[in-house]
Amino acid sequence: MTVIGIIGAGEVGSQIARAAIASGYDVVIANSRGPETLQDLVDELGPSARAAIAADAAAAGEVAVVAVPLKVVNDMPARELAGKIVLDTNNYMVWRDGHIPVIDSGAKTVHELRQEQLPHSKVVKAFTHIQAPRITTAGKAAGTPGRLALSASSDFPEAVELVTRLYDQFGFDTVDNSPLSESWRSGPGQPAWIAHEHQTRADLVAHLARAQRPIVR
Ligand SMILES: NC(=O)c1ccc[n+]([C@@H]2O[C@H](COP(=O)([O-])OP(=O)(O)OC[C@H]3O[C@@H](n4cnc5c(N)ncnc54)[C@H](OP(=O)(O)O)[C@@H]3O)[C@@H](O)[C@H]2O)c1
Repeated sequence: MTVIGIIGAGEVGSQIARAAIASGYDVVIANSRGPETLQDLVDELGPSARAAIAADAAAAGEVAVVAVPLKVVNDMPARELAGKIVLDTNNYMVWRDGHIPVIDSGAKTVHELRQEQLPHSKVVKAFTHIQAPRITTAGKAAGTPGRLALSASSDFPEAVELVTRLYDQFGFDTVDNSPLSESWRSGPGQPAWIAHEHQTRADLVAHLARAQRPIVR
């Protein structure tokens, strides 16, 4: 894997682009307003990056990142993402996204909805309980005492394996919190989300186990 397509060039997408390039990948990055609005970011990222429209970023990536809030009606390029592992960084935020009843009732997780919207992709929840700037600053070499851990959730083991390799390259340990139906355990407000600045693998395992499913009425 050498090229990562990144849809979303905000706080998370741009930080994943920086970390990916530092780890030797090429990135093709997109936002909603068009590639011409990403010139400053691409200039900063250097020759390993180019900007594109979302469909082209999805098509160019051997793997894709969706660093965009989920919409009830799919706004991601499902056809170009088909057959690919798709890292989804989305967190469900009612203040931003409005109420989504199937999530509020606990019937589905937000990442199960993303998987439904991208039925021919392998969705994996990743990079959701770390503040974006820390993606490039909080990583440590494997084996360093206190190395932070991040969770990954997917219905596809190969997607978790890929995220585990990427996390390791970026400086983080992994806890597998699969399948997607369990991904609420690392969601906003949960212990794993609150403790994001200082949790090792053992801490994260304990925090995921302590999670309590919120029912929003
Ligand atoms: N910020 C954090 O620390 C953090 C940490 C973990 C997870 N998250 C989650 O990760 C997701 C992204 O967060 P963020 O903070 O990076 O958001 P952000 O800074 O607001 O950036 C969102 C990006 O998505 C793009 N976008 C929106 N709709 C699009 C579409 N239909 N096609 C292509 N691009 C589209 C936006 O492009 P335009 O600007 O051109 O509209 C923008 O580049 C959110 O769900 C957030 O909850 C955030």
